[in-house]
Amino acid sequence: MTHMKSFIYLDHNATTPVCGEVLEALPGFAAAWGNPSSIHQAGRMPKNIIRDSRKAIAESFKVSPLEIIFTVGGSEANNFVIKGIFEFYQLEQIQKLKVNGTSKEIRNHYMCSAVEHPAVFKTLMYLKSMGAEVDIIPVNRRGEIDLEFYQSHLSEKTALVSVMMANNETGTLFPIEQMATMAHARGALFHTDAVQAFGKIEINLSALNVDFASFSGHKFNSIKGSGFLFAKRGTQLNPLIHGGAQERHRRGGTENTMGIGCLGVVAKRTAFIAEKAKSISKIRNHMESRILSEISDVTVTASETPRLPNTSSLVLLGVDGETMLMSLDLKGFAVSTGAACSSGNPEPSPALLAMGLSRDEAQNSLRVSLGWDTTLEQIESFVETLKSVVTRLRTLSDADNCATAQICSAVGGSNHV
Ligand SMILES: Cc1ncc(COP(=O)(O)O)c(C=O)c1O
Repeated sequence: MTHMKSFIYLDHNATTPVCGEVLEALPGFAAAWGNPSSIHQAGRMPKNIIRDSRKAIAESFKVSPLEIIFTVGGSEANNFVIKGIFEFYQLEQIQKLKVNGTSKEIRNHYMCSAVEHPAVFKTLMYLKSMGAEVDIIPVNRRGEIDLEFYQSHLSEKTALVSVMMANNETGTLFPIEQMATMAHARGALFHTDAVQAFGKIEINLSALNVDFASFSGHKFNSIKGSGFLFAKRGTQLNPLIHGGAQERHRRGGTENTMGIGCLGVVAKRTAFIAEKAKSISKIRNHMESRILSEISDVTVTASETPRLPNTSSLVLLGVDGETMLMSLDLKGFAVSTGAACSSGNPEPSPALLAMGLSRDEAQNSLRVSLGWDTTLEQIESFVETLKSVVTRLRTLSDADNCATAQICSAVGGSNHV
């Protein structure tokens, strides 16, 4: 087993540790090994686990249990709603053609923000390759979404708008209720990717008035491979996974009883979010003020706009994000340079670039994301370590530049080689 005694995890937007309540409940869910679709007694226990979990989630979000569709995670929920709406309209057109011999113009226009997770962004690009019209709503450096652009591009042709509730890299919160109302005024449906908001801020889906919302268990102290899509009653979308009659014919496949059961367990923890959010934001703000006053040439991206309480996206000029991440890792701190899904990819974060950061600024970015159990002491120790890491890397980089300049002048060249 890996020795993680002095390991401080500050990458909760990538994934979260499994909480004690889930660990305690897991063996019971695993023991319910029957197929939930079986009518005999082996199926009863898993069926009850799924029913109870659906009820707990619905209560937590103030919606109906019938509006919850279980998936394997956030990416599937996002793909499900976007492709499901597109195919629903395509099939409607095919049906019209068969019955009337004429085709009717369908809603074929889609929109998302410029900073969506790839599970939304790339799915919309896929729709574009299939003939859909797609518009990307700009987001500025402060994290604000361009509502004028949004309003002027919404039309009677718009089928679906997808805008995340909270950004995974900067924590920016978008005005979901307002944007959903604007979409509805044009007869369009509204989806929000709530994966990063789950467990970090209070969410009342019925008050937000969205048609669809995606969630993932592993971002809120549950196990991986579990998530769900909220689909408002009366909305229609084609299944992504065709198969059995599970999830009222909306998602085929034998249910992941363990993952679903654990989602029900964490749904009950949402009652403590407001209180947790307050204490996490206090610690995060303390961390930022120390970093800003004790390290030179640092900015916090989109700090002026409402944000998740746990997220801090820092630009430390002149220090490569990947090098900083590795140095911090060696000293026992886990952070991220951007979305975890793109780590190992040397390209700077597309979301930060879309917000107007330069390539250098994006490459000098570090994401610190706190969790429910992060303490002030851990953050004090992180800031001290970050200070020494940044000082060392900047000194090395200065020495390197100096050596390069000396070599260049010796050979009579310039830095632009
Ligand atoms: C905003 C957002 N949406 C979707 C996902 C994907 O969720 P999952 O890992 O459950 O597929 C992530 C994961 O990083 C995310 O941050």
